[in-house]
Amino acid sequence: MSAPREAQLLIVDDNEDLAENLREIFEPRGFRVRFTPSAAEGLAWARSAGFDLAMVDVNLPDASGADLLPALRSASPLGEVVLITGHATLDSAVAAVRGGAFHYVVKPFKVDELVATAEAALRQGALRREREALSRKLAASERRYRDVVESSRVLVVGLDARGIVHLFNRRAAELTGLPAEEAIGRPALEALIQPEARDRVQKHVRQTLAGASSGEFEAPLTARDGRTVTVRWHVVVAGAEAAPDEEIAVYAVGTDVTDGRALERRAAEAEALAHMGTLAAGLAHEIRNPLNAALLQLHMLGRGLGKVTSDERDPLLARTRVVEGELRRLERLLSDFLELARPRPMAREPVALQELLDDVASFQEPAAAAAGVALVRCIDVAKAVGDRERLKQVFHNLLVNALEATPQGGTVTLTCRSVDAGACAEVVVADTGRGISATTRERVFEPFFTTKGAGTGLGLSIVRQIVERHGGAIDLESVDGRGTSVTVRLRSTTDPE
Ligand SMILES: Nc1ncnc2c1ncn2[C@@H]1O[C@H](COP(=O)(O)OP(=O)(O)OP(=O)(O)O)[C@@H](O)[C@H]1O
Ligand SMILES: [Mg+2]
Repeated sequence: MSAPREAQLLIVDDNEDLAENLREIFEPRGFRVRFTPSAAEGLAWARSAGFDLAMVDVNLPDASGADLLPALRSASPLGEVVLITGHATLDSAVAAVRGGAFHYVVKPFKVDELVATAEAALRQGALRREREALSRKLAASERRYRDVVESSRVLVVGLDARGIVHLFNRRAAELTGLPAEEAIGRPALEALIQPEARDRVQKHVRQTLAGASSGEFEAPLTARDGRTVTVRWHVVVAGAEAAPDEEIAVYAVGTDVTDGRALERRAAEAEALAHMGTLAAGLAHEIRNPLNAALLQLHMLGRGLGKVTSDERDPLLARTRVVEGELRRLERLLSDFLELARPRPMAREPVALQELLDDVASFQEPAAAAAGVALVRCIDVAKAVGDRERLKQVFHNLLVNALEATPQGGTVTLTCRSVDAGACAEVVVADTGRGISATTRERVFEPFFTTKGAGTGLGLSIVRQIVERHGGAIDLESVDGRGTSVTVRLRSTTDPE
């Protein structure tokens, strides 16, 4: 036989004649032979140069071959060890094989047998090396794939055919607040999709698996902080063959598109308003003239009636007041709408928020008392820069919404403080009212969206427009049935526009 490359053969035997014989047998067969009579030296060789095959005498002057075996194997893990033994020590050789030696040869040995054993040992070594290399490659590719999945900014979830989660990447865990260990083993629908959308999603996934639809859909997910986010899911089938129950059959890859959708909606709203604006501003102007004329006439009618001394006066007066109330409501609607569609220039002056908020809250105090709602103020000194009247309108609208949503016995809290080392003011209007459902939440800032019989649905649209024109930000959080909290941030300094 010839070795596939120059194989390293280490002979550890104190019998020099025998060692010489072995050299004569193996060197012509392409082995590079090293010989040493002692266990200690053999081990040193193994550690420095390694070996493919070691032939070790069971009885060495400084150790037994069986004792040397584990040290040799760990010095050169891919090498094989063959023990050489006389009849007297066959038992210990057999024990050594059980302990990890490849085989043993009994002295005196036949050359053919010895060569066959060496050949088999080398083959085994080569196979082992190949297996090690393959499993290293496999581990590396698995690591690469895991790194990609784990570091991805999209959600990656693997499900079996029953819809049970088997893979839940870091982003999925971050967004849902559910650690992978807890998500794995649970139904994916339960972990990732809000209850009202589950039937729809399940149907969609089935159709995708049957090849009947695109595999893309959007669904609401409850984020770790209780917010509802919209996730766009892409579902792909994992393999061509049907997977057994326990294996991943489908991958769902999701992207949080909440911000994108909100932006699209804002753009559409702005566009609609711009279109409406021109038309409506003209129309509103036309309505306002007769409206004012009617109000004036009504006023005069009231004065005229005051001079009449008949019994019919009081009911007539009451009626004119009703009509006046309605006309004023119409006027307010018109002003709100005009404000939204055709905003007028804004003042930019320092505004002491604590005073402004105290005014707004005091104005609402009687309404709160009548409704049996506690109106709590926690107002620190804070400053804003902008338009006093517009800002008043912002907090007035928010307080009215909060009071309207809160039942008797509830609380509305108005908080104001200076934040970011005085750079900003933060005002929070929080209520313990009925809250807003996930579907309504998406629409509250739309102009004309209202759930109230007598509402115009312009309140929050105006609030947002004014806050944004001040370079501020507004955030609305709500838990259905528990209450709503609206946070407005305004700049306290004039610097950047
Ligand atoms: N604090 C709140 N609690 C519960 N729902 C709210 C709250 N604030 C707003 N909403 C919801 O948002 C909708 C829109 O509010 P918005 O202020 O824009 O209009 P509105 O209050 O209906 O009418 P108006 O123009 O008279 O203010 C409301 O109809 C209500 O469903
Ligand atoms: Mg309102």
